Amino acid sequence: MQIALVTGASSGIGRAAAVEIAKRGIGVVLTYGRNRQGGLDTVAAVEKEGGTAVALPLDLGASGTFDAFRDTVTGVLRDTWRRDTFDHLVNNAGLAHSALIEDMTEDTFDLLARVLLKGPYFLTQRLLPLMADGGAIVNTSSMAADSSPEPGYSAYAAMKGGLNVLTRYMAKEFAPRGIRVNAVSPGPTRTRLGDDGFTRFPEVIPALVARTAFGRVGEPEDVGALIATLVSDESRWVTAQNIEVSGGYDL
Ligand SMILES: NC(=O)c1ccc[n+]([C@@H]2O[C@H](COP(=O)([O-])OP(=O)(O)OC[C@H]3O[C@@H](n4cnc5c(N)ncnc54)[C@H](OP(=O)(O)O)[C@@H]3O)[C@@H](O)[C@H]2O)c1
Repeated sequence: MQIALVTGASSGIGRAAAVEIAKRGIGVVLTYGRNRQGGLDTVAAVEKEGGTAVALPLDLGASGTFDAFRDTVTGVLRDTWRRDTFDHLVNNAGLAHSALIEDMTEDTFDLLARVLLKGPYFLTQRLLPLMADGGAIVNTSSMAADSSPEPGYSAYAAMKGGLNVLTRYMAKEFAPRGIRVNAVSPGPTRTRLGDDGFTRFPEVIPALVARTAFGRVGEPEDVGALIATLVSDESRWVTAQNIEVSGGYDL
């Protein structure tokens, strides 16, 4: 049985990706940050689909913990699936903070850098020895990196832009092992991002819908399905790509 590790799966896109991946018969190790219950709820959602998942805590902003996390993953793989390796890594965990450049604090900038760029970089580095040849990595980026600048998102978008560059470098360096590396760039998607911004500011939704060709905002499952597709063997000839998944935002 193949196994995928999905970060940031206690809500939103990560949860949907975990469920969609599990639906394709792949075992899931998923991580949560502060929302342990959310992680457990995702495990229950996977089990409801007949799949197997294990939830582990992980702070993407604390790279000093990654070695211990790798040891924990090693134990989970052995105990749950009798395997020494896993196949696919989805670097999805993330957070958003907006501030105009003139107001940005170094603390907020550093937090975004640690979680959105340094985290995926070094988590991948530490987990690579546990990855089987021939698997896939999917990095959750954002349209914000490539679309016309939205004031306030300079630091967030810059880190996602860095992740896009990193995606291509990973694809190049890991290709000899047959590991494919791609990014997905969601448009506005109804998740808990931005401290539950969609719930707190529902008035922004009509403007987002108006800019979306398909006439609604994205749902987590819209993105989760693409992530699962990129992980699966159907995408075996696809690497170093960054795929927008936005229903035609600003088309
Ligand atoms: N929603 C959108 O419109 C949109 C658009 C483009 C890109 N994205 C990207 O999609 C990805 C998933 O976000 P989402 O929209 O699904 O939002 P979400 O519902 O808020 O989910 C974010 C996930 O990341 C985890 N996380 C946040 N900070 C973390 C940290 N320091 N360490 C470990 N885990 C952490 C959260 O865990 P806890 O809650 O357990 O702490 C949660 O599982 C992010 O990379 C985001 O940038 C989203």
